[in-house]
Amino acid sequence: QANEKESMYLVSEFAQKYFHNTLLNADEGRAIGYSYFKERGFTGDTIKKFGLGYSPEEWDAFTKEGLGKGYKLEYLEKTGLTIVREDGRHVDRFRGRVMFPIQSMSGRVLGFGGRILTNDKKAAKYLNSPESDIYHKSKVLYGIYHAKQAIAKQDNCFLVEGYTDVIQFHQAGIENTVSSSGTALTPDQIRLISRLTKNITVLFDGDAAGLRASIRGIDLILEEGMNVKVCAFPDGEDPDSFAKKTPYDELVAYLANNAKDFIQFKASLLMDDAKNDPVKKAGLIRDMVTSISKIPDRIQREIYTQECARIMDISEQVLSSELAQLIQKDV
Ligand code: CTP
Ligand code: MN
Ligand code: MN
Ligand code: MN
Ligand code: MN
Repeated sequence: QANEKESMYLVSEFAQKYFHNTLLNADEGRAIGYSYFKERGFTGDTIKKFGLGYSPEEWDAFTKEGLGKGYKLEYLEKTGLTIVREDGRHVDRFRGRVMFPIQSMSGRVLGFGGRILTNDKKAAKYLNSPESDIYHKSKVLYGIYHAKQAIAKQDNCFLVEGYTDVIQFHQAGIENTVSSSGTALTPDQIRLISRLTKNITVLFDGDAAGLRASIRGIDLILEEGMNVKVCAFPDGEDPDSFAKKTPYDELVAYLANNAKDFIQFKASLLMDDAKNDPVKKAGLIRDMVTSISKIPDRIQREIYTQECARIMDISEQVLSSELAQLIQKDV
């Protein structure tokens, strides 16, 4: 079993080198893949740091190369890099895509995300490695290997949605940034961060999906006993697009000025709408109290209850008794 996993790691490492080399040195990779990344504003150094790559637009270019180099079909298949079709033919999973290798905390390659080069709304934009003995997507954070030192040093972690958000932030000099990449945030991912800091700032896309994901993320982070802030982006922007067009000082100022604790964030989201509507306001307050009830530490719960009472202009006693009920139900 241990040997088997090691063989899978070696295959993945080989694949990363193959895709990276194809991006940098093959005609097709340079013409299509490298220029795609350049257009997105990634520098050569960034492309190297993240080991970005390109998979050729052929049926089995990678698989052939791997088998030729002595890697066993068994491990090519177990990592999902090669698909053995019903007709027995071996084909590459990733074809004609730019490649984002996904690394563990210690830097080993676990799997890949591959992006199509167009913005064709019909095709799935990203294709990812399947779950395997070495790649459990609920336990991995994209960028953690390059971010871990900065997260510990800054004592804060920026959590973004996508691969390119992580990369653009690192390139901008904000290296304490990781992404849950395509899965809804999980407790295991939060625990990875909690080894480095107790503070997370959620930076999700400025669209409806991003908003929903932030709201879901808040309670999960609170349940792990961590502090959570949320910073929203302008409509239609994500951290990648925003960082790309914003000078460093402005970007840092934007993050500092717009990061709100979860009570303020929820209040700002709904307050305009709910201000003059008692039913909506009550719903919003209940929602905040539910989030507060997730916090394991009693003193912190008390502090947030005070804040909620102040912002929502309601008595603390009422909130506290509501909170007590919720906590009892949860036991
Ligand atoms: N994702 C995925 N499969 C998809 C769409 C998205 O796995 N079909 C994951 C990817 O990790 C992606 C993240 O979800 O990075 C966020 O999705 P989205 O915001 O749609 O993509 P961006 O990261 O903004 O990608 P791009 O800027 O390249 O369009
Ligand atoms: Mn999105
Ligand atoms: Mn996005
Ligand atoms: Mn994007
Ligand atoms: Mn619980």
